[in-house]
Amino acid sequence: MTLFRLDASIRVEDSRSRELADIVEREWLTANPDAGVIRRDVGTQPIPSTAWGTAAFAGYTPEADRTADQREAVRRATELADELLAADAFLFAVPLYNYGVSQHFKSWVDIIITDPRFNPAEPPAIAGKPAILVTVHGGYYAEGTPRHGWDHATPWMQRILAEVWGLDLNTVVSELSLVGVNPALDEFKDLASTLRADAENRARELGRRLTTSSASR
Ligand SMILES: Cc1cc2nc3c(=O)[nH]c(=O)nc-3n(C[C@H](O)[C@H](O)[C@H](O)COP(=O)(O)O)c2cc1C
Repeated sequence: MTLFRLDASIRVEDSRSRELADIVEREWLTANPDAGVIRRDVGTQPIPSTAWGTAAFAGYTPEADRTADQREAVRRATELADELLAADAFLFAVPLYNYGVSQHFKSWVDIIITDPRFNPAEPPAIAGKPAILVTVHGGYYAEGTPRHGWDHATPWMQRILAEVWGLDLNTVVSELSLVGVNPALDEFKDLASTLRADAENRARELGRRLTTSSASR
């Protein structure tokens, strides 16, 4: 059994998304003591943002005519796609940045989609496998809040992971992580503690169940 884990936080110290992903991973390793973990950290080692364009155009260029850059971009796309194909379960830890999807996560998705095995027009190669998306918001976007609807990242990530790639996806959302950091949010201290505990419990519970897809749970 192999778990694929992707981290996209641009920091390592005090990263809430990494902490939640650690909870999931611990549960997975408890249930699968002999399992392997494939790690891809696009937060600290980003895929160059030009790589996907180069790989995409390489796809329209006969192999013999490809430039060195195109060959390198295709090699990178193949390596990243191979990591996904080698896994039985998936864990993605991606924070919200500037109300949208992390550019590092998007660059990673874009280059993988250039690999013919992840062509969205074909049946997805990893469909039906269990997956968890952990996402963290510094602010608060629940229904009834002034910025409800401003999280433009989670719906896109779910669209790609659950619909384009067909993963059997559950999501953990942890909000108000900037309480204690941004004094303007001090009034939300108690709510932030509750939301944090809820997210940790959900990560634990979903991590425990990650081994199997919902169809066989
Ligand atoms: C450059 C930057 C932009 C951010 N933009 C948003 C944002 O638009 N909305 C939000 O709720 N939080 C935003 N945050 C806060 C992060 O989502 C929050 O700090 C989260 O905990 C980061 O994940 P991490 O703890 O795993 O590093 C931003 C943080 C940074 C560093």
